[in-house]
Amino acid sequence: RIAGPSSLVIFGVTGDLSRKKLMPAIYDLANRGLLPAGFSLVGFARRDWANEDFGQLVHDSVAEHARTPFRESVWQRLAEGIRFVQGSFDDDASFDRLADTVRELNTERGTGGNTAFYLSIPPSAFPVVTKQLARSGLATADEHSWRRVVIEKPFGHDLASAKELNAIVNDVFPEESVFRIDHYLGKETVQNILALRFANQLFEPIWNAHYVDHVQITMAEDIGLGGRAGYYDGIGAARDVIQNHLLQLLAFTAMEEPVSFEPRALRSEKIKVLSATKPVQPFDETTARGQYAGGWQGGKKVPGLLQEAGFAKDSTTETYAAVTLAVENRRWAGVPFYLRTGKRLGRRVTEIAVVFKRAPHLPFDRTDTEELGQNALVIRVQPDEGVTLRFGSKVPGTTMEVRDVTMDFGYGHAFTESSPEAYERLILDVLLGEPSLFPVNDEVELSWEILDPILEHWAKPGAPESYAPGSWGPPSADALLARSGRNWRRP
Ligand code: BG6
Repeated sequence: RIAGPSSLVIFGVTGDLSRKKLMPAIYDLANRGLLPAGFSLVGFARRDWANEDFGQLVHDSVAEHARTPFRESVWQRLAEGIRFVQGSFDDDASFDRLADTVRELNTERGTGGNTAFYLSIPPSAFPVVTKQLARSGLATADEHSWRRVVIEKPFGHDLASAKELNAIVNDVFPEESVFRIDHYLGKETVQNILALRFANQLFEPIWNAHYVDHVQITMAEDIGLGGRAGYYDGIGAARDVIQNHLLQLLAFTAMEEPVSFEPRALRSEKIKVLSATKPVQPFDETTARGQYAGGWQGGKKVPGLLQEAGFAKDSTTETYAAVTLAVENRRWAGVPFYLRTGKRLGRRVTEIAVVFKRAPHLPFDRTDTEELGQNALVIRVQPDEGVTLRFGSKVPGTTMEVRDVTMDFGYGHAFTESSPEAYERLILDVLLGEPSLFPVNDEVELSWEILDPILEHWAKPGAPESYAPGSWGPPSADALLARSGRNWRRP
């Protein structure tokens, strides 16, 4: 699937995301031969730059962050289509210049006028930019070309603000032209949840409350928040990743089989399962929030959140969050879904663990089976992408001792194909007009509906519990599972 003639305009081009992910992904797509010859990249920013200066920025971020090897010929071809428009969001003339540039690219490079606008900017700037795109005529498609808008999270900070944002964007762009990025959906291992569940006969019969005891969805990171105060302070872990990435993982894990992988079919199953998902109360017992303290991690002294540059000295922003959710339908009745995420934890790992009930009867000598765990199917989203299955096996020897072992599938061993970076896949899908992997506004609003009551509970005065760097979160997180006789996995 090669994208058709088009240009991509990036707002917020000097930001971190653009340098580390977007521009390298565009180069990688070009390198894999997935962009058309006339593809053009337009940067829009305040800096007083010429095309060449912007070209240099793209070049440097590609050299530093691209996945595929640097090839001069590919770079030269891409560089010919790079333009820069200097301007500010509230200035009409800047957007008129942008419109001229987009028109010229059509004549010079045959983009067909097809244009995607990537808003890699804070949500507070959405209204002015979408209005300018409408006023300058840039947002209006004619019968021969398309216009699409790509929006980065956060999609608001609660349900009310998400609704406002959706209304502002939908005022200018029809919903089918809006591509909301949740980069987790661009990950191979996340899409593979659907293959695992629906391409096999083995798992689906036991994928329900009769056999599943609970589900743990973990997104742990070992890094801290140095340099990200501007975005993160006041936002916190739940808004940053539970509202989007983790709830999307839950939706893929818990939803019914879609009738096809057509965008409408897939999204309506996600909407259905998110509509059935509710936070479990009382929140003092079913949720936990923490903030990392200073200390030692991996042999290095690291600051606590309150010592990180830019964070308020009395910040109550959580860097760890755990919640308990219920999916209230026949398939999942009574099965808790535990979601947790945190910064500066023991290691970087994202996984979904479906933990099964114990066998109803164990015909073994009791002492041998005391340690026997529960079967678990673990989808390792990253790193060491793969799937493992934990089950009991006889320990070689003269007694009938059973011990847990794991069966392991790893992408590295099973496939010679390499996985494209999530942003590569998603940017290509935008240019192709393939919306399956992009959440629609209903999904975003439902996710906030699930999270809002918990956030309101946490907004009461009081600081989050502190936890040591390199640990697995605050004590209340362990207490949360211990109440029902369960334990978090230590991946
Ligand atoms: C982003 C969050 O969406 O995802 C970051 O804002 C987080 O806080 C990042 O670090 C993690 O992405 P990945 O792909 O490295 O798991």
